[in-house]
Amino acid sequence: MALDDRVVLVTGATGVLGQVVVEHFAAAGARLGLVGTDLGRLNHVASHVGLGDDRWLPAVADLRNAGDARAAVAAISGHFGRVDVLLHLVGGWVGGTAVADLDPAELRGMLDQHLWTTLNIVQAVLPHMVEGGWGRILAIGSRSGLEPPPKVASYAVAKAAEDALLRTLAREAAGTGVTVNLVTVGTIDEEHQRESAATPKNATWTEPEEIAAALLYLCSHEAGAINGARLPLDRRG
Ligand SMILES: NC(=O)c1ccc[n+]([C@@H]2O[C@H](COP(=O)([O-])OP(=O)(O)OC[C@H]3O[C@@H](n4cnc5c(N)ncnc54)[C@H](OP(=O)(O)O)[C@@H]3O)[C@@H](O)[C@H]2O)c1
Repeated sequence: MALDDRVVLVTGATGVLGQVVVEHFAAAGARLGLVGTDLGRLNHVASHVGLGDDRWLPAVADLRNAGDARAAVAAISGHFGRVDVLLHLVGGWVGGTAVADLDPAELRGMLDQHLWTTLNIVQAVLPHMVEGGWGRILAIGSRSGLEPPPKVASYAVAKAAEDALLRTLAREAAGTGVTVNLVTVGTIDEEHQRESAATPKNATWTEPEEIAAALLYLCSHEAGAINGARLPLDRRG
């Protein structure tokens, strides 16, 4: 699918999923603003993917800070003239503690990572998209946020909060040309274990390439009627 020079801002670009997504969106013709906390890691991703200097811009930002998010978006929109797509792929996980023993600092940390980074980057990009009359905001939901298993409360609460924030925004964005959707997964199968070493446990894991393809579709003109959806990629036939 061709993205026709769309300007795509990717957060979490250096993560497990982000690197594969950057590769797929670059191949589809996007111009990319890559956001992360470390310039060296952003440069590494761009060079690994073979991005020419005219096709991408790095922006160093700690997205837990609203000012950093605004500065990153200002740099990318200033450079390319607009921002059409936000792929919000900031990750981070903690688990292993029962609610009875939970340290509030752990929960606050996960809310910082998933809820506040989402609010900060969304508030920064939305005015650009609404002004342009077109936009796509996409993030990755977690099965844990919808059906929490034991001992992952901090992560589950944070992903549920991110989900609620974005689906609220989707309702508010009606009529603007901007859509807001989530792709939901259980575990990202970075090493393709489901194919190389299949077990009952990894049977419903999702390959990063499958997620990238779904994100590309949701960015298409043809997906313009999809808004406020959770596309489940963790249920195989
Ligand atoms: N991995 C899974 O199995 C899984 C399962 C379900 C859902 N998900 C979701 O899928 C998405 C991608 O996850 P992933 O596993 O690819 O993530 P990951 O490998 O843990 O990568 C984390 C990314 O987030 C960035 N990041 C972390 N804190 C940041 C901050 N404060 N400001 C800016 N950037 C920050 C990191 O950039 P730096 O280079 O700056 O560190 C890195 O690029 C997340 O939404 C995650 O919740 C993942």
